[in-house]
Amino acid sequence: MSVLQAINPNVRNMKPLEYSILARQASRINEELRQGVKKPYQEVLDVYSGDPHKGGVKPLSYVRQVLAACLYPQLVNSSKLPVDVKQTAQRLLGGCDGGSVGSYTATMGIPEIVHKVSEFITRRDAGVPSYPENICISPGSQWSLSNILHILLNAESSPRNGVLSPVPCHNTTPMSVTGLGAVVIPYYLSEEQGWELQVGELHRALESAKGVCKPVALYIINPGNPTGHVQSRKSMQEVIRFVSEKKLFLLADEVYQEYVFGEKSEFVSYKRVLSEMGPPFSDTVELASFHSVSKGLPGECGLRCGYVELVNMDPTVMKYIFTRFSIDTCTPVLGQIALDLMVDPPQPGDPSYPLYHMEKQNISNTLIDNAKRAVEVVNSLPGLCCQPLEGGTFAFPRVYLPPSFIQKAKEVGLEPDTFYCSRLLEEAGLLISPGFEYGQKEGTYHIRFCIMTSAETLEEVLRRLTCFHTQFMKDFS
Ligand SMILES: Cc1ncc(COP(=O)(O)O)c(C=O)c1O
Repeated sequence: MSVLQAINPNVRNMKPLEYSILARQASRINEELRQGVKKPYQEVLDVYSGDPHKGGVKPLSYVRQVLAACLYPQLVNSSKLPVDVKQTAQRLLGGCDGGSVGSYTATMGIPEIVHKVSEFITRRDAGVPSYPENICISPGSQWSLSNILHILLNAESSPRNGVLSPVPCHNTTPMSVTGLGAVVIPYYLSEEQGWELQVGELHRALESAKGVCKPVALYIINPGNPTGHVQSRKSMQEVIRFVSEKKLFLLADEVYQEYVFGEKSEFVSYKRVLSEMGPPFSDTVELASFHSVSKGLPGECGLRCGYVELVNMDPTVMKYIFTRFSIDTCTPVLGQIALDLMVDPPQPGDPSYPLYHMEKQNISNTLIDNAKRAVEVVNSLPGLCCQPLEGGTFAFPRVYLPPSFIQKAKEVGLEPDTFYCSRLLEEAGLLISPGFEYGQKEGTYHIRFCIMTSAETLEEVLRRLTCFHTQFMKDFS
């Protein structure tokens, strides 16, 4: 039998990313630029994904210094590194077998780092206790989410299992659900209400699954990707009551927890709200909460590390989780180190603190300014409308595409907003993503771009978008 015939039908059903179309186009354009073809821009500017370093955000010096010393321990004797960097590197190397980042670690992560994560969570949640045995370090939060889904979803189940997933939604989670032979049950976030999650819509979605699949979990992203919405405590309480009543497992993707900037918004974890609600919720609702080094302050997407904390999980299930996670032996050690530094950064009085604090403030001030600037510029353009941004690292404006353009898109066989992004890429050298990638209400179109960039990069993004869009509206209106 050929591989093509043998291929898992669930994998066949996975929706391919629009990125593949646009990435191919971007590499062709880059090649043409290399060959000297004249275009109105010198290079493609890529703000498709939420990759801060790609967008010009500088890595945190403290993180890179400790990583450097861990990779090359002779640096521990260097006078160029601050004392606390050297001490931290020594402490971390002490937790590595053979004193080397080249050794495998325990499956769930280096025990000292797992402890640090649980202390961080307890501090974050104002004292709600967190236990190291409920924490698993993983090569990225997407990896842990996929593997938790692996345990949760029974591929043999009839009817199939279902996962309630937001629309729009960070694209890889629905792919994982489909790839595991389960059904994505869409619930629509309300764009008109700033992308709020409405519990009535959860009930509607659950009802729609009757006769189709057996819902087992609810997936939430808070702060939202791509929406930029931050849930209120009240909304979270409603969600908790809903999952409790319907006996659903709650998957809380909280990777953007460090980025909340709406004037009235604050990040509160699902675990904390659950605990505040008391019994029966606090001791029965099963919850997995995800966080990541990619989306936390270090923005170290390429180091691949995150963690999941499990709450109210049966100890037998924890054993299965351990078995599942052990297939990949362990998480890359440099990622684990970055995680340690994320959850236990320099404190006032430490030699590295002034520089760390300054860099941290720069990153968060730039993000706040970028969010304001993106909304202001986008909303000044006819045919584009962005809801207020309260958190996360993306802008996700709606684009009102003229019917003649939608018709043209159909003729070339592309989704209308993918076609818009393709024209933007060709004419302005700007690579952003189409709303189709994330799901959207029928007949609506969106674009998404990362705002977690340097101020200069964002200005250039907005300049290219403005030039292109102004001409586009002239051409098609
Ligand atoms: C909501 C959300 N969850 C998870 C991830 C993946 O993060 P990681 O790099 O930790 O796998 C992303 C990445 O963009 C995301 O937006």
